[in-house]
Amino acid sequence: WRLEIGLIMLSFLIGSIPTGLLIAKTKGIDIRKVGSGNIGATNVLRALGKEAALLTLVGDIAKGVIPVAIAKALALDTLNTGIFGIATILGHNFSVFLKFKGGKGVATSIGVLLAFSPHVALLTITIWFLTARWTRYSSLSALIAFGLLPLSFYMLDYSKEKLIIAVIIAFLIFIRHIANIKRLIQGTESKIGEKIGNKP
Ligand code: G3P
Repeated sequence: WRLEIGLIMLSFLIGSIPTGLLIAKTKGIDIRKVGSGNIGATNVLRALGKEAALLTLVGDIAKGVIPVAIAKALALDTLNTGIFGIATILGHNFSVFLKFKGGKGVATSIGVLLAFSPHVALLTITIWFLTARWTRYSSLSALIAFGLLPLSFYMLDYSKEKLIIAVIIAFLIFIRHIANIKRLIQGTESKIGEKIGNKP
C-alpha cells in the first residue's frame, strides 16, 4: 500500500507541473489572463502560436505517459495503473502549484491513454482530429472523443477495470469543460487558432 500511495502522490505531483503556464511565462505572458484563461495547448496556441502550443502539448502528454509507464514497468494491476493515470490528470486539473486550479486534462488524458491502452489512444486522437477538422472547435473535439471513450474501450480493449477508468476519465473531461459547453451552446466558443479568445 505504501508504494501505491507514494505513486499516487508522485503522479499528482507530475500532473501538477503547469507546462503551458511555464512556457508562456518564458515569453512574459500569464496564460491565465489571456483567451479562455486555460493553461492548455489550445489557449497557448491562441496566445503564443504554434511552436509554444506544440511544446505545451508534448509536455502535457508526457506528464500523462510517465506515471502509467512506471506502473506498467512495476507490473501493477490494471486498476492501480489506471488510478495513477487519473491522479496525474487530477494533478493537471487541480495543480498543487496553482492553488488547486489548473487545466482541462485533454492532453494529459491522451498521454495516460497512450501508456494505458495505445489502441484506444490512437482511436481517441483520430476522433479528436476528425471532429477538429470538421468543426474547428478544440473543446467539442475533446468532448466527443472522450464522450466516446467508454465505447472505444468496449470495442478495442475491454475489461471491467478499464471501463471504470474510462468512465472516470470521460467524466473529468466533461466537468472541466462546462464553461466551454455553455459557450458552444451560446455560439461564442472560439475556434482553433482564433486569436481573440473568450474570457473564462
Ligand atoms: O484542451 C482544452 C480544450 O478542450 C479547450 O481549451 O482554451 O478552448 O478552453 P480552451
